[in-house]
This record gives sequence, structure tokens and C-alpha cells, in this order.
Amino acid sequence: MPAEEARRRLKAQMPAAQMAAEANLVIDTNGSYAETGLQVVAGWVELGLALPAPEVRAAEIADADGIAAILNAVVREGGLTALDRTYTPAEERAYLRGLPDRSVMTLARVGIVTAGFQIVEPYAAYTGAMDHVATVGTYVVASARGHGLGAAMSTQTFNRASAMGFTKLVAAIRADNAAAQVFYEGLGFRPCGRLARQVATSAGAVDQLLYELFL
Ligand SMILES: CC(C)(COP(=O)(O)OP(=O)(O)OC[C@H]1O[C@@H](n2cnc3c(N)ncnc32)[C@H](O)[C@@H]1OP(=O)(O)O)[C@@H](O)C(=O)NCCC(=O)NCCS
Repeated sequence: MPAEEARRRLKAQMPAAQMAAEANLVIDTNGSYAETGLQVVAGWVELGLALPAPEVRAAEIADADGIAAILNAVVREGGLTALDRTYTPAEERAYLRGLPDRSVMTLARVGIVTAGFQIVEPYAAYTGAMDHVATVGTYVVASARGHGLGAAMSTQTFNRASAMGFTKLVAAIRADNAAAQVFYEGLGFRPCGRLARQVATSAGAVDQLLYELFL
């Protein structure tokens, strides 16, 4: 398109503030591409549209932006995780690069947007006696919860973990995170312990519940 025509069309647009005032839904594109994608998924759900079936696959380093956007959204929600700060895409990339060979990172994608991830890592590096044990964490962005993403990732993650020689998974869940407890129990995890006053929060220390699953 000639530059002059492009300029004419841009000039013909309604001012952004007026568009925002009249729109049913506003998507703020000032954040990262991944953050914009999460807003599209949230808007999709808000408009009552059905989400496409999730695509579940192994994560790659190039997925760091999408993973960071989900992690940060969950941290900002508050009350769900022991993580107490957000992560930049560069930090997430470094974390992914530093993962041990025996680890599993699975993604759930809704269309082209990464809406959930699951991570399995060895439980202990200081001894070989626990090489069969791994920790697991699952994160799905709020708008996509209850659509089977967590369950679909678990099937793939647990198969891959099993193929790597892990026979046991351990999850540590905040005692005030009832949804996660129901989720893990639904996957067959059983409660096996409680760490008192384990997670410091602005509202005081919260206990952490331990769950285990033999694969
Ligand atoms: C816990 C979490 C991972 C579940 O993911 P999800 O994609 O919403 O879970 P699914 O839709 O696959 O649900 C699977 C099963 O879990 C249970 N479940 C999930 N969320 C639930 C909720 N809010 N209340 C009750 N049961 C719930 C249901 O039994 C569901 O089975 P159903 O579909 O037969 O009803 C998600 O809520 C999340 O990311 N929460 C924030 C982060 C977090 O708390 N992570 C856990 C700590 S690591």
C-alpha cells in the first residue's frame, strides 16, 4: 500500500480514547506479545465464545515469553503460589536453559496463545537415592481454567516423566489453595504431609500441604 494511502487510513481512524470508551472489550497492546495474547483469551471467554481444544506439547526455549506471562499473571493474582515475585522473559529463558536434562516442561496452547504450563524437576540433586522422585507444578491462566488444560498437560507430562525414569511425583500446595488441592487429588495424588507456617505472605505465614503420586 502506498505510504500516503496508509497515512490517510490511519487518520480516518477514531481516536483511541473514543474507541476504548465505545468498545465492548479493550485489549491493551502495550505489554509483550504473550501478555496481549492472554488478554485475547480472557476477552474470548468474557464474550462467551468457546475456547478451541488445547494443543499440548513440550516447551522450548522460544516459549519463555509465554511461560513468563502466565507465571506473572498467577503471581499477581495472589494467594496461589509460594512464588513471591514476577520474572522477566530473559530470566525465564535462563531458567529453561538451566533445567536439568531429566526435567519436563509441558505447554497448553489455545490457538496460538500459551495459556498453561507444567513443570517436573528432580526432587533432589544432592543424592542419587531420590533419582526416582520429581516435583511438579502446574499453572493455567485464570481465564482458561476449568477447560481441561491442566488435566491434558498432566497426561503428557506424567508419561514423559515416567519415560525418564521418575516413578514418583511430589506437589507442594498452599493450604489456602483449595482449587489446586482438588485438581491434584483428581489426578490421583494423595495428601502426605503438612509444613506449618511455610509460606510468608503479607497476611501472615501460610501452611503448605504435600501431595504424592506414584506413577
Ligand atoms: C490448579 C490448576 C492448575 C487447574 O488447572 P485447570 O486447567 O483449571 O484444571 P482442569 O480444567 O484440567 O480440571 C481438571 C480437574 O481438576 C478439578 N478442578 C480444577 N479446578 C477446580 C476448581 N477450581 N474447583 C474444583 N475442582 C477443580 C476438577 O476435578 C477437574 O475435573 P473435571 O473437569 O472433571 O471437573 C489451575 O486452577 C491453576 O493454574 N491455578 C493457579 C496456579 C496454581 O494454583 N497451581 C497449583 C500450584 S503448583
